[in-house]
Parts: sequence; C-alpha cells; structure tokens
Amino acid sequence: MCHRFALGAGRRLVVLTVRNYTRWQDVSMHRMEMISRFSEQRFLHEVDYLVCADVDMKFNDHVGVEILSALFGTLHPGFYGSSREAFTYERRPQSQAYIPLHEGDFYYMGAFFGGSVVEVHHLTKACHEAMVKDQANGIEAVWHDESHLNKYLLHHKPTKVLSPEYMWDQKLLGWPSIMKKLRYVAVPKNHQQIRN
Ligand code: GAL
Ligand code: MN
Repeated sequence: MCHRFALGAGRRLVVLTVRNYTRWQDVSMHRMEMISRFSEQRFLHEVDYLVCADVDMKFNDHVGVEILSALFGTLHPGFYGSSREAFTYERRPQSQAYIPLHEGDFYYMGAFFGGSVVEVHHLTKACHEAMVKDQANGIEAVWHDESHLNKYLLHHKPTKVLSPEYMWDQKLLGWPSIMKKLRYVAVPKNHQQIRN
C-alpha cells in the first residue's frame, strides 16, 4: 500500500522495509526490535529525534514540536481517570513486564512514544530484550509491547507526558468536554476483522 502525497519544502520520506508476522501481536511487539535495529544502523547517525506512532491513526488538529523531549510517553485515553490498581499492566510476576498493584504512575499507550534517538534506542532495545526473555520463559505480556513500554517508563521516567489529546479514539470514547482538541485520533476499524 502506498499513498502518494505532496511533501513540504525540505521534507523527505524514506520507506524502510520490515518483515511481516502472522499474529498481530507479533507485528506489534516486533516494532521494538525494528526501531532499535534501525536506530543502530541509521537513526543514531541521521536524526535527533524519533516519534514512534501506530499507522492506524490520523492527524485531526495541531501536533508539532511541542511533543519533543528527551523521552516522551502518551496517556492511554481509556485510563487517564483510573486509579493505578485499574491499569492493565502485566500482573504476573513471571513476566519481565510485571508491575505490582501498588506501583505505577500512569498507563501509557503503546501507539505513541518517542524522544532523542539515544533514549528511544535504549527503550526499544530494553523492551525487545525483555520480550525475548518472556518468550524463552513461555509467557507473553497481556498487552504485548505496551506492557513492556509501561514497565520501562516506570523505571525510566519520561521527561514529557502527553495528554490523551494526542491519542484519542472517538468511536470508543466520544468527545468529553474536558478534551479541548482531539489532535491525533484512531481511524475507526473493525478490530476483530483486522486482528484475526
Ligand atoms: C484497549 C486498546 C488496546 C490496549 C488496551 C489496554 O483499549 O485497544 O490496544 O491498549 O486498551 O487495556
Ligand atoms: Mn493502533
């Protein structure tokens, strides 16, 4: 799939090919491996910041350089009002993503994170290695790469936390009045059909 669109002056689009996986969980999890590997091969030598985003999203309002920081995460739109006990962290101690009930700051969405290349490289490498360990131990974290991202950000605090204006799903959550703008939003899709 390739949509053609006009790039602004001085902008460049580079497509890096990655391999596919049968299970959507593996497609999602292996983003950590891809990003960490491409960081070593290219990004560390080419750019200052990385913004890592799901592809099934669209820009709906302003998203700009205000998101940049050494390491940023985004609040999951389903949990910004929840207590930490209700966060869907991995709760089995056997997993590298395990977070006990009385720990945790926020529940971050796996679909939008970033920062300096050095920080994102560190994060993605650590998450990938944790998932490799889990796989060797025959366990897969409840929300896959998102569980590992949450574990990493618990012990490596992000320097910026984006509000759910930067990660919204209107089909699921409507448009509550406290959301002034819906900046970056999920494209409506049939999860069942796409995932399975
Ligand atoms: C769902 C979302 C999943 C995962 C989960 C966490 O709303 O579709 O991708 O983030 O929340 O509980
Ligand atoms: Mn998505």
